[in-house]
Amino acid sequence: MKSAAYIFTLFLLLSAACARNSGDPDAGMNRFLDSLISQMTLEEKVGQMTQYTSNWVVTGPTLSDNVEEELKSGRVGSIFNALTVNYVRSLQKIAVEETRMHIPLIFGFDVIHGYKTIFPLPLAEACSWDLDLIEKTAALQAKEAAAAGLNWTFNPMVDIARDPRWGRVAEGAGEDPYYGSLVAAAKVRGYQGDDLGSPQTVLACVKHFAAYGAVEAGREYNSVDMSERMLREVYLRPYHAAVDAGVGSVMTSFNDLDGIPSTANKWLMTDILRNEWGFKGFVVTDYTSMNELVNHGIAADEKEAALLAIKAGVDMDMQGADYIHNLPDLVKEGKVSGTEIDKAVYRILREKYLLGLFDDPYRYLDNQREKNTIRSKEMTDHALQSARESVVLLKNDTVGRKPVLPLSKNIKSIAVIGPLGDDQADMLGSWHGSGEAKDVVTLLQGIKEKIPETKVRYVQGCPVAENDRSGFAEALSVAKSSDIVILALGEGAWQNGEAASRSDIGLPGLQSELAESILATGKPVVAVIMAGRPLTISRLADHAPAIVNAWQLGTMAGPAIADILFGDYNPSGKLVISFPRNTGQIPVYYSMKTTGRPASGQKYTSKYLDIPNSPLYPFGYGLSYTRFTYSDLKTDKSEIGFGEPLTVSVNIKNAGDRDGVEVVQLYVRDVVASVTRPAKELKGFERIALKTGEEKTVTFTLTSDNLRFYDKDMKYVAEPGEFKVFAGRNAEDVLETGFVLK
Ligand code: BGC
Repeated sequence: MKSAAYIFTLFLLLSAACARNSGDPDAGMNRFLDSLISQMTLEEKVGQMTQYTSNWVVTGPTLSDNVEEELKSGRVGSIFNALTVNYVRSLQKIAVEETRMHIPLIFGFDVIHGYKTIFPLPLAEACSWDLDLIEKTAALQAKEAAAAGLNWTFNPMVDIARDPRWGRVAEGAGEDPYYGSLVAAAKVRGYQGDDLGSPQTVLACVKHFAAYGAVEAGREYNSVDMSERMLREVYLRPYHAAVDAGVGSVMTSFNDLDGIPSTANKWLMTDILRNEWGFKGFVVTDYTSMNELVNHGIAADEKEAALLAIKAGVDMDMQGADYIHNLPDLVKEGKVSGTEIDKAVYRILREKYLLGLFDDPYRYLDNQREKNTIRSKEMTDHALQSARESVVLLKNDTVGRKPVLPLSKNIKSIAVIGPLGDDQADMLGSWHGSGEAKDVVTLLQGIKEKIPETKVRYVQGCPVAENDRSGFAEALSVAKSSDIVILALGEGAWQNGEAASRSDIGLPGLQSELAESILATGKPVVAVIMAGRPLTISRLADHAPAIVNAWQLGTMAGPAIADILFGDYNPSGKLVISFPRNTGQIPVYYSMKTTGRPASGQKYTSKYLDIPNSPLYPFGYGLSYTRFTYSDLKTDKSEIGFGEPLTVSVNIKNAGDRDGVEVVQLYVRDVVASVTRPAKELKGFERIALKTGEEKTVTFTLTSDNLRFYDKDMKYVAEPGEFKVFAGRNAEDVLETGFVLK
């Protein structure tokens, strides 16, 4: 026998459908949700605002009895880390069939760069500058995760990061707000699709709001303090772009900002997010970040923490159980109003409604689909293409009469040396969903498959991080007796991502020493760096003739790198984050200010005594096996008025002997303004494919809208005056022209 409440829910859905048919979809949804909320007890409402993890362990799920009891009594609205159709179904069944209100759960998971098929780390894929590819990756990640019963990913992470000591640079799109905003929007579109109600899409969650990427000294969970101008012009922009793209949820960050932790920050969560930007979805805390308000020292206890969070505009409590333990009392004491609770519940239920969970709470749960979709060829094919496009060629010297790369497939013997040469687990990178090491094709396997006739030998040489030299001798002897050495160096997956800040971002352990002793043999060496952040590799850059920055590329790492090494794919990736010369140079990013004493030969100017100001490799940098020449940068007018378009054009020619892809970049500098402006700001780019000998004119349109910034009175305006325009292959190697805004 169905309960009366169940029948009532059906009745509500029916009337919502009628309202939809009458041409007003929101009216129907609102009527449904308002009626539903009016039937709920206070406890059930706060239950919807409560999320718990299922502690998925290697052998399967574990949900403590207590949580299951909570679930049955309607005191849980969402579960995360619950995987597989069967397990998700068992939980959804409890929510829908055993609770009084039959409200379906929403199931979350960190699909950061893949659910089971692991794509390159987000920082790596961002180096493709290929927004269509990035959007498709997100769509496939959604499809695979949704096939496992999930309907919510805690991604994209859109934190701008200019300090590579912070391990989570791996999860974002690098240092630039313009580019970061485009990536953020592409990922939201990819995850959510055109129809959130489709069982192929998932709800996205933009995180970590706000400015988490600017933690002091790159130390995880640390404080952030910055000007509002910097916050708005740089750090907030990608979140705003995600909201404009329709993201359905936002996660608070762990850090405080100007003294107010995000989870208690009304200015961020309500004034900016909802009132300024019009965000309609719901806000979830980061993992226990509400409870942590006590450690931050702004709440005396968890009850006060819950009060601060609800007042700030936080709707769902991840894992901390602060809301469920305290909100009912706070309402009874009159400190929180029923309306405040209803608003939060409405926002959460709205997303469940848009996901179609009220129509069919089991719509994501199809065992056959799960079997057919996960690790399907469609996934691995795209993972391979994404991995190829993520690789950045940093150096390729000419030795004799030819560049070192690409390598000939007729080579007789190759030594692959280094801790990451045949490592499956570390290729997955940090936050790799439920990806498994056994599915990864390593660099060694990729090379062997590519050139089966060649003698390929592998020696680890040393571990990733421990001080063990016992493999050095064998590594040297194999190197000496091979025609070429591929050095496979970098970080373990555990050395980037959350809680993986490093105070020295050089090659860990004895890897530099190993590299130097191999280089000393005089054999041709190609260094392949696999890491989740830029590493300080100045010495390697001085001595190794070729360096391929391969990041951590996921399931298809090996074949992708082999395609690059042997020229089956011409590298096209460009850095989205500057490579510092050493850790002391951090932060170094292309859009720094000129200062009052720009660096020069004069002593008393802004510089270091021991290194140049420029990074080792700048933003936008990446080589190709072909050669692109730039010429004829011009604007169609020397002056424009406000609102009037300016066309900038530049000629690019593929002057080399291979077809290739180039990312043409456009930068602008505001020469005189009421506040100091960056030396350059990215304003556009185009990724173009050119056949050998082919030439193309790339055009960009700028208007005064693209030139706006927060002026001395914090008004978002463009100011008249002179502007420099640069176009080129990276932030440093550019042609220059200019115009005047009248
Ligand atoms: C991380 C978030 C993540 C959450 C849930 C937190 O520790 O900071 O990025 O989404 O855990 O797994």
